[in-house]
Formats: sequence, structure tokens, C-alpha cells
Amino acid sequence: MDEGDAMQYLASHGHEKSGNDVIFSWFARFQNAAAAGADAVNGTVGALLEDAGSLAINTVVDEAIRVAPPAEFAAYAPLKGLPSFLDLAITLALGDHRTQLEGLGLHMGATATPGGSGALFQAAANFAERGDAVLLRDRHWGPYVGFLKGCGLEIATYPLLPPTPSSDTPFFDLDGFTTSLEGLVQTQDSVMTWLNDPAHNPTGLSLPAESRYALLNAFMESAARNEHTGHTLLLDAAYHLYADEPHGWAETIADALDAGLPWPENLLICFAISLSKSHTIYGLRTGAVVYVHPEASSVQRLNDVMGVTGRQTWSASPRIAQHVLSELHATEAGGKAWSNERDRLANLLTARRSTFIEACKQKGVAVNPSHDGFFAWYECDNPVAVAESCANQHVYLVPLSGGVRIGLCAVPESKVERVADALAKAAEAIE
Ligand SMILES: Cc1ncc(COP(=O)(O)O)c(C=O)c1O
Repeated sequence: MDEGDAMQYLASHGHEKSGNDVIFSWFARFQNAAAAGADAVNGTVGALLEDAGSLAINTVVDEAIRVAPPAEFAAYAPLKGLPSFLDLAITLALGDHRTQLEGLGLHMGATATPGGSGALFQAAANFAERGDAVLLRDRHWGPYVGFLKGCGLEIATYPLLPPTPSSDTPFFDLDGFTTSLEGLVQTQDSVMTWLNDPAHNPTGLSLPAESRYALLNAFMESAARNEHTGHTLLLDAAYHLYADEPHGWAETIADALDAGLPWPENLLICFAISLSKSHTIYGLRTGAVVYVHPEASSVQRLNDVMGVTGRQTWSASPRIAQHVLSELHATEAGGKAWSNERDRLANLLTARRSTFIEACKQKGVAVNPSHDGFFAWYECDNPVAVAESCANQHVYLVPLSGGVRIGLCAVPESKVERVADALAKAAEAIE
């Protein structure tokens, strides 16, 4: 009996959900090889590991959580989040540019969510009409597809990189973006684009200031020209606190307003904030959706919309990290202690990335541009064959659509060169 005949209790949209997570299955292959005694390299995991292989932990966060009062673990948080945490979430999104943006007339609000994933769900649930397509780069975090499909949305894409390198908008396909945007504006009442920047998963790409500005300018201009079409720019900041310019987007927004670009009423900018990586509390499910708009009344209204959506989906978000982290960041000493640990962890990534890029250069591996965060990317036509060839050399990576993801976050510094070597041999054998 095939599944279609059986499991009649599963709704048709439930039947559509299938598949063993590809990342998990390649991780299992690494584990099996290591258990069988191979000197295997793990480039599969999407969490930051110490060079010795254990999960990297921001010890300042860990210690602060352990001494929190029992009631902070046990109690519900307010449905929209603890006010002190919401304030912290806005600061984590905008950094030192927050005051300047407030001075330029912007209002900000936030709602606590279970991780950055919850913030992405909030956006999918509320900022696009059912059936509309959301604009993504053609290389994106896989679960985006599920969040969007689950909310009855489609996907449209534009290329990750321009067809020929552009000195005006490095690493950004402005033409591809505007053409796709224009196509959507013609047929939809709402347009939303999700951009995981800086420190993109799966490539490690971060847009420089001129490319951020060009993207924002194009989006604002489209909003101004199409005043009846809602425009939402969602910046997925899952890894931003490990990037060289963590608050580059806030700076770009301030630059645009300073230069006199008008902010049309139908434009909303949101940040999906995740504390999973920045504070190494992946399992505590803590994040926020932060929204920025010139009208205070719009922000008030969004507080309600987000609050109700959360209530109807997961109830309140977990309280403990909201409490502990807003206390920790409330003092200069606490913030400094956290950032010293964050710097220690970020240095692991910087060292691995520069070794990797240098080794790829030496061995002629055409790896994608990669600047910040947890990953690097090898673009290729046959990702599974490349990953298989690497696995034959006991280097385990993740084949995804259009390329192979290299989890620099998991590879010990001493083994990074082996990854470049495996890719070089794979490329030679296959291409
Ligand atoms: C690109 C991207 N966005 C968002 C998230 C959300 O993470 P979380 O829900 O754990 O905060 C992740 C986590 O891997 C991610 O890679």
C-alpha cells in the first residue's frame, strides 16, 4: 500500500512534508566514519564547534543563566516578550545607529519569538498575501522554503552574484533584483524580500555598503512608485554579531535617510534577530522580530499583530534567556564580558576562513567569495558528486542546491587545509 492510500488521517498538505534533512544525513555519515576509526573531518554541522570538537559556548552567557532565580525559568514571559528584552532586541538589530535612526524620525518595535525561525514565521504569516511569491536570492537557507510554503506562499529568486563582477555593487546582482522585483510588483498586492545579510548561510557572503545602499534604494524607489503595494524588506540577522560590520544595515538606512531618500508609508523594514548563535543558546529558542517604520501608530499596530500571531502559534516565547540577557547587557561590564567571549568565538571563524581561502587559492579551488559567519560555499553543477568525492577522502560536507556548503564553524583549524585539498581533488576528478 503506498502512502497515498494509507494514512488517510494525514491532510494533503501534511503529505507534502517529506524528506530526511540532508544536513543530518551527511552528519550521520561523518559520525559513522569517525566511529569506525577514520580521521574524518566534519564540515556538516551548522553550530560553532571548538577546535577540539565540542560545542563552543559563550561561558559568560552560560554562567549568567545558571545563577538565574528559579521563577525566571519557570514562569511564562509576557506574550509579546519582556519589555527589557524587546529593548535589547532593537539595540542588537541597530547597534550604535539606533539613536541616530530615532533622531531621523523612525520608530521601532519588537516582539519576542522562539529564535530567528519564529521571526521568519511571523514575517511569512503577516507580510505577504497568501499565494504571493517572496523574493529570495537563489542560494538561501533551506528552511525558508518550508516557512513560506507553510504559510501558503511561493518563492521567486534572483541570482546570488551578478553574472559579471560589478564594481558599483560588488556581490549584488542589482539588475537581477530589480527585474524580479518589478515582475512581482506587477502581479501582487504585497512584495516581500528576505535577505540573510551579513554572513549569509550558506556562503558567508556579506554585502558591502555600496551594495546595501543600492538594494535599499531600489526597494524604496519601487515602494514610492507603487504606493498601493506593501513592500517589506526582511533582514535575517542570524549571524550578524559574528560579522565585521554587524550593524551595516542600520548604517545604510541612516545613510539613505540622511541623503534625503523618502521613506514611503508602504515600506516596512524588519530584522529577524536570533540569539541562538550570538549567545550560543541554540536550544533556548530566543529571538525577536524587530520592525522599523516612520509612523509610531504602525509600530503599535504591529505589536498587536505580532503578539496575536505568537499567541496563536506558540503562546509566549521562553522567558529565561530574555530575562538573563537583558540583565547582562544592561551593564557595561556585562556587555563587555559577553563581547569578549563573542570575540574569542569569532576569532575561531576568522582563522579558519582565512586559512581556507588561502588554501583554496594555493590549490586552485574556485570557492565562492566568503567574508563572515559560519559557512563557505563551493558552487558547482553536481554537488552530490563533489560531496561524495570529498567523503571518499573522509571530508564530510553538505551538498545543497547549486553547490556544496562547507561548515567552517565545525572544522578544526588544523583540518581546514584538508577540506581545500579534498575539494581540489573532487574538482579534478569530476569537472
Ligand atoms: C539563515 C538562518 N536564519 C535563521 C536561523 C534561525 O535560527 P534560530 O531559529 O535557531 O534562531 C538560522 C539557523 O540556523 C539560519 O541559518
